[in-house]
Amino acid sequence: MSYLELAGLQKRFGNATAVDDVSLSVAKGEAVALLGPSGCGKTTTLRMLAGLIEPDRGTIRIDGAEITRLPAHRRNMGYVFQSYALFPHLSVARNVAFGLEERGRPKAEIARQVEEALALVRLSGLDARRPRELSGGQQQRVALARALVIHPSVLLLDESLSNLDAKLRDAMRHEIRSIQRALGITTLFVTHDQVEALTMCDRIAVMHRGRIAQIGAPEEIYEKPATRFVAEFVGRANALPAERGPDGQVRLWNETLALAAPADGSFDVFVRPQRMRIVPVSEPAGPDTARVAGRVLRSVFVGDHVEVLVEGAGGQLTVEMPSGSPAPAEGSEVAVVWPATESRVFAREAP
Ligand SMILES: Nc1ncnc2c1ncn2[C@@H]1O[C@H](COP(=O)(O)OP(=O)(O)OP(=O)(O)O)[C@@H](O)[C@H]1O
Ligand SMILES: [Mg+2]
Repeated sequence: MSYLELAGLQKRFGNATAVDDVSLSVAKGEAVALLGPSGCGKTTTLRMLAGLIEPDRGTIRIDGAEITRLPAHRRNMGYVFQSYALFPHLSVARNVAFGLEERGRPKAEIARQVEEALALVRLSGLDARRPRELSGGQQQRVALARALVIHPSVLLLDESLSNLDAKLRDAMRHEIRSIQRALGITTLFVTHDQVEALTMCDRIAVMHRGRIAQIGAPEEIYEKPATRFVAEFVGRANALPAERGPDGQVRLWNETLALAAPADGSFDVFVRPQRMRIVPVSEPAGPDTARVAGRVLRSVFVGDHVEVLVEGAGGQLTVEMPSGSPAPAEGSEVAVVWPATESRVFAREAP
């Protein structure tokens, strides 16, 4: 059952279309990430949801009721801005109380709710501080408490972790995710960081040029990218130029793969580097295994894995081996193998 429903949302600025026919159904309690490169329309989508800008076309519904043109303060959405947007002259407690004061709640109730919200984000005792007296991570949590205190029907987070250092960002990801789960808040969060998207949500909607290119569970987006753009944007991939052989199968680096080639047009075969293995040239390919031959250009130790760059008849590719496994010597002739099912074929001109 869908709780938050976007249907055919569109927004133009001048003659540029920032959001183009976006439809999305989010279940109650679900967390969905909007993932995409800069300028693809993520913030614009969130701002339409929050009621900060009006869509040109399309509808927004919550629990069946249309809210497309409802003013922001009547939507009950919690919005955490990328910049936190805390009021610098107000204490932590007053910052968190803001939404409740705006709604004219009684003082005693406000005090109790603020205390609860601060406890939830583990900031109890810091009520009297000003934002400038807090660390970045603490300010982030004040912004989160301010969004949560109104018991929003939907929580909107816009790149809220991008100003934090790597360690704090990781801790906050887990913290926000567990609060979101514990409270069962329907959440839409925007990021251009794929690790954040993969770890913080139930489903990912990958956006490209104002449209949703693919929506699915993190594993699905990673393992079965629907378009070339998704394959390139989420995770690493070798994009290997290939041809159609006389038998209709893929020809790659002078080898025939057990894989049907598209009927026309030029295309590339996409394979994740960590799904490839390096084996001796003498080892024949098993059934359902793709295999090409090449020479090792170099091996680079990158901590938890070794990157091996291999050059063959049709170009170069990278294989990611777990570190600890013996890396092949530079200059040695090797074969690179992978399960044929790990290959994805995408037309070269496709968006
Ligand atoms: N108020 C505005 N007036 C004109 N153009 C705008 C306005 N707001 C956004 N745009 C344009 O709309 C497109 C989408 O912008 P948006 O802010 O939604 O991108 P985004 O996906 O959030 O990007 P980022 O990751 O950089 O934050 C961009 O090309 C942007 O320049
Ligand atoms: Mg943005």
